[in-house]
Amino acid sequence: MCGIIGISSHKSVSNSIINSLKKLEYRGYDSAGIATLADGLINEVKSEGRVENLENNFDLKNLSGNIGIGHVRWATHGVPNSVNAHPHSSENVSVVHNGIIENSTLLKKYLLGKGHKFKSQTDTEVIVHLITENLKSSELQEAITKTLKQLHGSFALGIIFKDMPDLIIGARRGSPLAVGYGPNENYLGSDSYALKSMTNKITYLEDGEFCFIKKDQVNFFNEDGIKINKKVLELSSDQQNYDKGDFKHFMAKEIEEQPQTLKTGIKEYVDNINNDINIYNFPWKIDEIKSIMLIGCGTAYHSCLMAKYWFEELTTLDVNIDIASEFRYRKNRFKNDTLYIFVSQSGETADTYAALDLCNKNNMKTCAVVNVIESSIARDSNFVLPIHCGPEIGVASTKAFLGQILVLYIMSLKLSSLRKEIKDKDYQEKIKDLKNLPKLIEQTLLLDNDIQAISSTFNEAKGSMFLGRGFSFPIALEGALKLKELSYVHAEGYPAGEMKHGPLALIEEGMPVVVLAPRDNYYKKTISNMQEVVARGAKVLLITNKSKDEIVSENIWEKIEVETTNDDLLPFLLTIPLQKLAYYSALKKGYDIDKPRNLAKSVTVE
Ligand code: AGP
Repeated sequence: MCGIIGISSHKSVSNSIINSLKKLEYRGYDSAGIATLADGLINEVKSEGRVENLENNFDLKNLSGNIGIGHVRWATHGVPNSVNAHPHSSENVSVVHNGIIENSTLLKKYLLGKGHKFKSQTDTEVIVHLITENLKSSELQEAITKTLKQLHGSFALGIIFKDMPDLIIGARRGSPLAVGYGPNENYLGSDSYALKSMTNKITYLEDGEFCFIKKDQVNFFNEDGIKINKKVLELSSDQQNYDKGDFKHFMAKEIEEQPQTLKTGIKEYVDNINNDINIYNFPWKIDEIKSIMLIGCGTAYHSCLMAKYWFEELTTLDVNIDIASEFRYRKNRFKNDTLYIFVSQSGETADTYAALDLCNKNNMKTCAVVNVIESSIARDSNFVLPIHCGPEIGVASTKAFLGQILVLYIMSLKLSSLRKEIKDKDYQEKIKDLKNLPKLIEQTLLLDNDIQAISSTFNEAKGSMFLGRGFSFPIALEGALKLKELSYVHAEGYPAGEMKHGPLALIEEGMPVVVLAPRDNYYKKTISNMQEVVARGAKVLLITNKSKDEIVSENIWEKIEVETTNDDLLPFLLTIPLQKLAYYSALKKGYDIDKPRNLAKSVTVE
């Protein structure tokens, strides 16, 4: 899940490459590099760490060249340092790569035998030498077709050549790649976001395809090297603001944006006049769907779990969920009457895409719940339900999580109504409550100071637990994931009733434990489970919703009360304090909140 960029222009490209790389940093940020071609020579600059380091370490103004490629890395093979940073170059060829070459060890052996010398520990370097080797006996196009066929695994590639002064080759298998068209220049990029400041005219490469990009023309080829025509898409002008504004971090901004993003989502799907839900162009008849399978990774998987509870509560559909990296290798029993729903913020997650691809190959009904509507998952699904959140830049997903569960809740309600499983009065009531949700989120966000004060206890602890039952269990998992990814504190999410079957052994004096116990059907049971951890010395932070009834529990360390709504919608409100808890813990530790260590926003490798 690295980011790549390439520009072939009539003017110097290093500045534009740097700007695009900064946009791509969400994909990887452990090293960065650029190669340009000037005066018949490939010039390469690389640095460990951020693009900023590259700017500080080199005088990039002096890096001339009207053609160049750039890369931000998320290490797979070889430690993150400047030697392993991309581009990787021989005297004749320079390559940037996103993906993993699975047969790199074998290819390296073969190339060493041919006298090639390797500098790095990366899998990517074999591509450089393989092209160089194939060029000895073949013309360029044939050499590229041959090289791509010899590579196993996944890749998006940008390649420049010493002897081809305005050519960039792009190639895709598994990892996303887009071509952009500008005035007297053309571009290659991992996504349209990186190219947005330069163009809104985009073509996406499909698996197996490659392209030749010159400043005044682009040609596309299929995997056999046969020329093909491809559509140019005009992307909608994006009004979204990619700046942090007055916020210290994108994450803080994205948390605070949630009332607005939910409002937008509700407006897209709820017909205010008829108080009904609209899912336009749903391509299947309702009785064609007997069961649902939801698939995602990380936070998106938690959205799937949340949806399972709602679908089961509101419909009699069979509902299953799976983690994409498991689903893709499982012996699946594909069923025609199952709707396969793929949940992904980026729409580019490799495991989720592979699961979708598998379903498509088996002619299943596929539906994407995504934020990025130009993404591979959106493009290759039969039907798309966008979450309408606007760009999410912070690596830790916040507004996209609420956006995903909003759309999935809306879908469960609509299916329940179409299947006549919910009384009309209840349906109307739930839609009314839904419309009121953004206001309640806004009020819950005001709990800021209370959470900030509590957060240091979590930093100082060896570990922590997040417990919940029923609708609150997926939120407990999400809260634990947020804390671990941002503040690097060990955190486990558990169903509260499961503690006594093992994890209770972890509880010791002073261990912070978050208990999610809203006043829903599970309330009393959760409070009993809470007593079990209190009795063993845990410092319990109870998160519940406002109520007239007193909480019948002593020895709670802290209590936070979110607003009140119907039971279905409480998970939205419970999420807010957990997002803030993770944010403030990381802030106090001085960690890089928008780019936590070892992670990337878009995970385009297996
Ligand atoms: C969320 O905070 C994580 N950074 C991560 O779990 C993420 O949700 C996961 O990688 C899936 O990404 P996607 O939604 O873009 O598919």
